Amino acid sequence: MGNLLKGKKGLIFGALNEQSIAWKVAERAVEEGAEIVLTNTAVSIRMGTIDRLAEKCHTIVVPADATNVADLEKLVDKTLEHFGGKFDFILHSIGMSPNVRKGRTYDDLDYDYLAKTLDISALSFHKVIQVVRKKDAINEWGSIVALSYIAAQRTLYGYNDMADAKALLESIARSFGYIYGREKHVRINTVSQSPTQTTAGSGVLGMNDLMEFAENMSPLGNATADDCAGYVLTLFSDFTRKVTMQNLYHDGGFSSMGMSRRAMRIYRKGMRFEDVKEHQYPFGLPDEQA
Ligand SMILES: NC(=O)c1ccc[n+]([C@@H]2O[C@H](COP(=O)([O-])OP(=O)(O)OC[C@H]3O[C@@H](n4cnc5c(N)ncnc54)[C@H](O)[C@@H]3O)[C@@H](O)[C@H]2O)c1
Repeated sequence: MGNLLKGKKGLIFGALNEQSIAWKVAERAVEEGAEIVLTNTAVSIRMGTIDRLAEKCHTIVVPADATNVADLEKLVDKTLEHFGGKFDFILHSIGMSPNVRKGRTYDDLDYDYLAKTLDISALSFHKVIQVVRKKDAINEWGSIVALSYIAAQRTLYGYNDMADAKALLESIARSFGYIYGREKHVRINTVSQSPTQTTAGSGVLGMNDLMEFAENMSPLGNATADDCAGYVLTLFSDFTRKVTMQNLYHDGGFSSMGMSRRAMRIYRKGMRFEDVKEHQYPFGLPDEQA
């Protein structure tokens, strides 16, 4: 229990179940003194366990489809009413690709599905920001964060059309960050998170191998959903007031790596990391003896 967000109020999208990154952010934000409102689609509210989170966080859940502007308008009105005024932060933790779900590969996309991927995973971010700005719902020096993934910059097999959605999401953070920053000092950033075992994450082709690869490549190892929550809270706090229009990597160092000694040796020998004796790394035996 701390005071990092004491007196701050925020709206959190995307908590489905205990694995969700948004779930961890919500819990930690309240522990740090914030008041929050939770939202998700009506279907996800029914299918998931967000009501338990609401109880724990002493708050309400407002159903809204983040692709639907009318829903968002009602959501923001209800949030303003609940708080009795403006609020300070928003977490956009939303992603879904019908192409990934239906097993359509990147060279055989269904374009109606692609439109849905982009709408849910990227345009919804624009819609949320446009609605809150028009309603002047965010306090000066407020903070808006969305979650991204490195497939926006580098090609990672299996991430499919979500890579294009994340590239658009990051661009929206920059474009709107300029407008909202100049006008109201509201900052907008994306956090590019390690692969994480969640409902959305498990939809990615080869997720377990991807997580293991990223773990072996990253000097600090993969960042967990809990780690991510801690980082996001700093972006909601007053300690990061001049950080805006950034895509911030939160990935244990993965994004700066070319190839790690660990991953290269495993690749060359066709071994899994568990097969490799711990003492060989990082300063173990020379190559010929290892
Ligand atoms: N899990 C990972 O490996 C990973 C890595 C980097 C970034 N991310 C991103 O983190 C964010 C959260 O995902 P997660 O991993 O916690 O998975 P999750 O499945 O728990 O969360 C995804 C959420 O999106 C919500 N959602 C889907 N369609 C919606 C709509 N139309 N309107 C409102 N909400 C909708 C779902 O109900 C769900 O709560 C996503 O943006 C995801 O791309 C995840």
